[in-house]
Parts: sequence; C-alpha cells; structure tokens
Amino acid sequence: MGQWSLPRIVAHRCGGTLAPENTLIGLEFALAHGCRGVEFDVMLSVDRTPILIHDETLERTTNGRGRVCETSDATLHALDAGAWRAERFAGERIPFFADAIRRCRALGIAANVEIKPAAGFERETGRIAAEVAARGWAGDDRLPVLSSFSLDALEAAAAAAPTLPRAILFDTIPADWALHVRRLGAAGLVCNAKRLTPAVAASVKQADLMLGVYTENDPECARALLGWGVDSVITDRPDLLAVLA
Ligand code: G3P
Ligand code: MG
Repeated sequence: MGQWSLPRIVAHRCGGTLAPENTLIGLEFALAHGCRGVEFDVMLSVDRTPILIHDETLERTTNGRGRVCETSDATLHALDAGAWRAERFAGERIPFFADAIRRCRALGIAANVEIKPAAGFERETGRIAAEVAARGWAGDDRLPVLSSFSLDALEAAAAAAPTLPRAILFDTIPADWALHVRRLGAAGLVCNAKRLTPAVAASVKQADLMLGVYTENDPECARALLGWGVDSVITDRPDLLAVLA
C-alpha cells in the first residue's frame, strides 16, 4: 500500500470556511495559506459519476433541489455551488472528482478523498471512487488517502484499488479499532478531534498507523493534538493553522 501523503494541516472540504465547500476555488484558497493538503467529499450522481459534495441533497450548497443520487451529471454541472456562500463565488460549479484530481495534481496538493455514499450506495460509491482515484493519480508518487465512515465503502475501495492507502473514519475510535484496521488493510484512522484522548492516540501510533483528526480550528488545540502524535489535522481554518503547517 502507498504512503500516507497528507501534511500536518489539511483544509476541510477543499478550502475550509474560506471558500464554498467542495469547490475547486477552495483548493486555491487552501494553497494561498500555504496549505498543501485538502479533504473533500465524494458522492455518485445518478449517472454513477463521482462528484464533490457533502450532503445527499442539493439544497444547502447549491441552487438545485433534490437528491444527488437521482440527479444527472448535466443537471449537476449546470448548478451554482458558490453563491450560497457569498455573491463573489457565484459561478462556482460542483466539481467532477476527475477534475478535482487534475487540479490537485497541477497545484501539488495532497488529497484526502472522503467517500461519502448516499444510503444504499456504499459499495458502488467505494468501488467507483477508488477506480477513478487510481486512474487519476496513476504514475504519481504521492497517492491520495481514501477514507470513509462506511466500512462497506472502504472494503469495496480496497478491492478496486488495493494500492491506494485507506483510512477508517470514526467519530470516537472504538475499542475494537484494530480488528477493522486488519480487515480493511487500513493505513490509518481519522477521528473527531474532540473525542480523541492522548492514550488512544498513543495506542494507534504504537500500532504504526497514521492518525488524522477532524475538524479543529483552534491553533492551540491543534498544536496539542500534534503533540499527542496526530499526523494530520483537518481544519476549516487553514489560515489560522498555517503556522503549524
Ligand atoms: O473527513 C473528515 C470529515 O470531513 C468528516 O466529516 O461531515 O465534514 O464529512 P464531514
Ligand atoms: Mg468530509
């Protein structure tokens, strides 16, 4: 399995809260603050194309309506995914995953691809996201990290692209985390920063795994987490955490 490519500070949903979430302009905002790692969410359209979006429905972050998994690529591509955040972002589109990969590679940004399946599409989303990631990053010596709260999605991703590093997402890391790691061949764990303890962090690091946390915006808390052995802090404020990058 490939190496964990994520830096210490990783912008959440592309540019954190500095830009509309899960958009290509968010990548530019992250980079402008010296942040060379981003996390974003990947879900399937009705055409089974992976796109960047967090919610299963379109209303919160676009001017569209309805369920992402029931909407065509053409319809999704015509939507505005920026104006909800601020008028100056009007015209930003929902990125296709393949385009986001190209932009990350062009900008030299490492990616944590969170596989975010709509309910019922766990395996299909994991498989397709991993296939597109493997093609998109082919030949690159810095591979993405695929993560998911869905163990089914990660299992399908492992079968489709065994060489891509995987991380299991948890809110709280459960007592039986090592079983899941073994079963999925995971390279690391990513958990809620507020639920991590120094003891759990130490046991994960002792097992020679990579450890990430979401979502920490306070520089002092982030510094403490890094001190516990956390490898990557996912943040909505890459501007505030830039001093730790
Ligand atoms: O990947 C970490 C984090 O993004 C998980 O939460 O809801 O922001 O996707 P969410
Ligand atoms: Mg996410």
